[in-house]
Amino acid sequence: MKHPAAVWDPRIATAKVKDSNGVDQIVLRNPQGASAKVSLQGGHVISWRNNRGEELLFTSSKANVKSPRAIRGGICIFFPQFGNCGPLEQHGFARNKLWTVDEDPPSLPAKDSNGKLFVDLLLRPSEEDLKFWPHSFELRLRVCLGTDGNLTLISRVRNMNGKPFSFSFAYHSYLSVSDISEVRVEGLETMDYLDNLCQRERFTEQGDAITFESEFDRVYLSSPNCVAVLDHQRKRTFVIRKDGLPDVVVWNPWEKKSKAMADMGDEEYKQMVCVDGAVIERPVTLKPGEEWTGRLEILLVPSSFCSGGLCF
Ligand code: BG6
Repeated sequence: MKHPAAVWDPRIATAKVKDSNGVDQIVLRNPQGASAKVSLQGGHVISWRNNRGEELLFTSSKANVKSPRAIRGGICIFFPQFGNCGPLEQHGFARNKLWTVDEDPPSLPAKDSNGKLFVDLLLRPSEEDLKFWPHSFELRLRVCLGTDGNLTLISRVRNMNGKPFSFSFAYHSYLSVSDISEVRVEGLETMDYLDNLCQRERFTEQGDAITFESEFDRVYLSSPNCVAVLDHQRKRTFVIRKDGLPDVVVWNPWEKKSKAMADMGDEEYKQMVCVDGAVIERPVTLKPGEEWTGRLEILLVPSSFCSGGLCF
């Protein structure tokens, strides 16, 4: 199925710029001043700003922007696997590949019928990818910026193969927070989770909301379609709405692991939390010609709004 037809409005301030490696980045900017920037390197959302120009996604000051591998920050895509197993690289190859702008019109950022700005990107497997993962696919990513500044990512995977294949998927989202000790994640209470710090053993979340006081690396299973990340110090809340993405990964590397990562500052773990809409426990299986869609929307609201039923 194709995305709905779009109208290209040349008056909208959108731009195609090149990074220091010569790779195209597409900038969406709405009339209120909010913006999003996506790189063709990895189909990686490298910036999302509100209408006051504040960056809402974390990117490490040590991110390796020279490397063709995914930078530490923003929102990248894990596909076709989560984690590190078999011949594929950790979290799959999609985030390390050069994507193209989907030339099935429009070829430039455009507006959909709801007034959202968007750009469509496309990834097809290279000969090299097919050696390690012998399944022909098309992965489309639509990055949308709403008039309210909301960021929406819609991915579609289509099986172009003669045989079924299965995959996992995640939007690995580095949210910028004031101080991780002041952050609560709500919406995952009583959920079962796999703890990546205990060989993926299964537990049930007991507590109230999730808070952080040490390394945290869990996959919450079959979670509700809305999760809130409350930043008390900034008095604001990221509301994450998702569809087609039953699982949620929550990750903070904390101090020791940050120090061991070349592309992360020693203290920077305090300013980020990853909360990823994902499909992990039960991978998606597509028969020939079938398509899967996974949709993630992130909005930022004052914390006082959250109890007003945005989510729960
Ligand atoms: C998280 C995983 O989603 O991604 C962690 O749960 C992992 O285990 C983290 O460390 C970062 O992975 P990478 O490959 O980007 O360093």
